[in-house]
Amino acid sequence: MKLAIRGDLLDFTAAPAWGGTAMQGVRWRPDHWLLVDEGRIAGALPAAQAPGDDWQRVDHRGRLVMPGFIDTHVHCPQLDVIASYGAGLLDWLETYTFPAERRFADPAVAHAGAALFLDALLAHGSTTAVVFPTVHKVSAEALFEAAAARGMRIVAGKVLMDRHAPDGLRDDVEGAERDCEDLIRRFHGRGRNAYAVTVRFAATSTREQLAMAGRLLQRHEGVYMQTHVAENTDEVKWIAELFPEARSYLDVYARHGLLNERAVLAHGIWLDAQDRQRLADTGAQIAFCPTSNLFLGSGLFDWQAAVDSGHRVSLASDVGGGTSLSMTRTLAEAYKVQMLRGTRLSAWTALHTATRGAAEALGLAHEIGHFDEGATADLVVWDWAATPVAAHRDAVARGAVPPLPAQDLHARVFAWMTLADERCRVATYVAGRAT
Ligand code: GUN
Ligand code: ZN
Repeated sequence: MKLAIRGDLLDFTAAPAWGGTAMQGVRWRPDHWLLVDEGRIAGALPAAQAPGDDWQRVDHRGRLVMPGFIDTHVHCPQLDVIASYGAGLLDWLETYTFPAERRFADPAVAHAGAALFLDALLAHGSTTAVVFPTVHKVSAEALFEAAAARGMRIVAGKVLMDRHAPDGLRDDVEGAERDCEDLIRRFHGRGRNAYAVTVRFAATSTREQLAMAGRLLQRHEGVYMQTHVAENTDEVKWIAELFPEARSYLDVYARHGLLNERAVLAHGIWLDAQDRQRLADTGAQIAFCPTSNLFLGSGLFDWQAAVDSGHRVSLASDVGGGTSLSMTRTLAEAYKVQMLRGTRLSAWTALHTATRGAAEALGLAHEIGHFDEGATADLVVWDWAATPVAAHRDAVARGAVPPLPAQDLHARVFAWMTLADERCRVATYVAGRAT
């Protein structure tokens, strides 16, 4: 199966310089054929050198072709509660989220919810995600099975919560350990699925359960860990009351052996320098969730401090606290949050972070996040504009509105990133297959 897709190819060969718009690390191949053979990237050719007749050609000339986005923190069952009028994180969890998650105990709901969610991710241009289902084992099974049916690369695991949650949403240490062992055996490393030991947050697990989570990570090399950390000031205070022995919120996880280079911690807004150093030392990453942090009034993530301390950062929608599965909307909000912190986030850093950067942070750069030869062909075709205003803005960038001068590529891509959403998505390919 040989496929050639024509368009403006944009991906990254390395991390662009923080805070600048230089083309370092940016691979821009306007009007090229991207070659896909047996589901893998096989190279690229300028448009004038059309590939031979043995290649099936799909002509998207004038459109942008990028690696599929990687959303490093999102909740499958929370499509039910996106855009709910809560009063901050803890109220939002109690009032909307926990009641909605109880529905996923029903296998029919879990399977339908997983299908709806993964199809929505693909329709928004995200081909890989690190996902929370619910506490129910069947919700994780449904997600892994639905991802396998679509050929998608996902990282997920049954949510662990054995306290401070309503009836129907709590597990216990022994049962949860059994369920995790079974799920790891059946799904981790099978096809494109990977397992993540999924501690909801420190408040909903006992010390015994956190210790069990640490043992699972010790026992199973290559398994991920995902959780929330330091999202909201009331939450941080509560964690300090629940774990007086810990130096900080992050330290609760560190004490239980949960931090390593496969740990993905969402938010990380209220960290101090020692916490950031710990993240850098362990290789753990913070998933920056701008639409959620704004929507729930959680705070402004300090990306500059992350860069200074050398810890990894990825970008995530965090739906349903977040308000859109669209990663371009997520990047546009990330830019605004950094402006409020006095830092400018370039389109290059934003797009790199949501593709190759996330793949590297997850240890998956051998497979996804770029158009290097041999990479799995998870890619998305985008229109440069979906509305008359965006089309006009793009024409200005291209120099098609005289006497305004043409702008450089960063300016054009930045305007696209800021205005684009799922309406711009034309096609999504997973391992070279159109979805
Ligand atoms: N902290 C614990 N659970 C959640 C959740 O579902 N969403 C967010 N944003 N934060 C959390
Ligand atoms: Zn979350």
